[in-house]
Amino acid sequence: MPTFDRSFWEERWSQVLREHADHVAHRPPNAHLSMEVGNLRPGFALDAGCGHGSDSLWLAARGWQVTAVDFSATALAHARSTAEAAGAGVADRIDWVEGDLATWTPQPGHYDLVACLYVHVAGSVEEMVRRMATGVAPGGTLFLVGHRPVDPATGAATAAAGQVQVSSDTAVAALDPGRWDFIVAEDRLRAMAGTGVDAVIRARRRS
Ligand SMILES: C[S@@+](CC[C@H](N)C(=O)[O-])C[C@H]1O[C@@H](n2cnc3c(N)ncnc32)[C@H](O)[C@@H]1O
Repeated sequence: MPTFDRSFWEERWSQVLREHADHVAHRPPNAHLSMEVGNLRPGFALDAGCGHGSDSLWLAARGWQVTAVDFSATALAHARSTAEAAGAGVADRIDWVEGDLATWTPQPGHYDLVACLYVHVAGSVEEMVRRMATGVAPGGTLFLVGHRPVDPATGAATAAAGQVQVSSDTAVAALDPGRWDFIVAEDRLRAMAGTGVDAVIRARRRS
């Protein structure tokens, strides 16, 4: 079983981009993200574990000022060049940051939206949820998605098998209910994106 560390992702992105760069560059934003965040007023956003950058590009095109973090230099280079091809109106709104989310800490209370989608957590999920949550401004949104490792309908392993990703229970347990309102915390089918279910968490920090 791979360890899902930086070398794993560098190798994975190198292969995917070698074989499917064009397809990756035209990927739409994540369906859960566009559904839950599409109506929010743009401000400062963090895309933690941005990968190919399609969510960062979508946010920037909607007027968000985005900080996009990933530890794969290959993914970041691809994402940056896709943003540049989209034009200055998008590219100038995104700061690409090479960082390891095992320790990287957002600027406290700075972001109107902190999004973290499909990131394997090497340490404690609760600790990472709490650390990402420190970046959310009063009234802002924490949006997390985790691919569940097993498809509950069939019991079969999904593409996330072996990874530790956020679950609704862990996210709810990690956040102080006196400071956060949970708007969504549930499993949803991955109708548009492969097998199994995703945990989708949308929480609002109280002002
Ligand atoms: C499955 S991809 C998801 C990419 C994107 N968020 C999406 O939804 O399409 C996981 C991404 O997280 C990044 N990643 C995994 N662990 C990380 C870590 N500890 N620090 C920074 N990035 C990490 C990987 O390089 C990869 O780009």
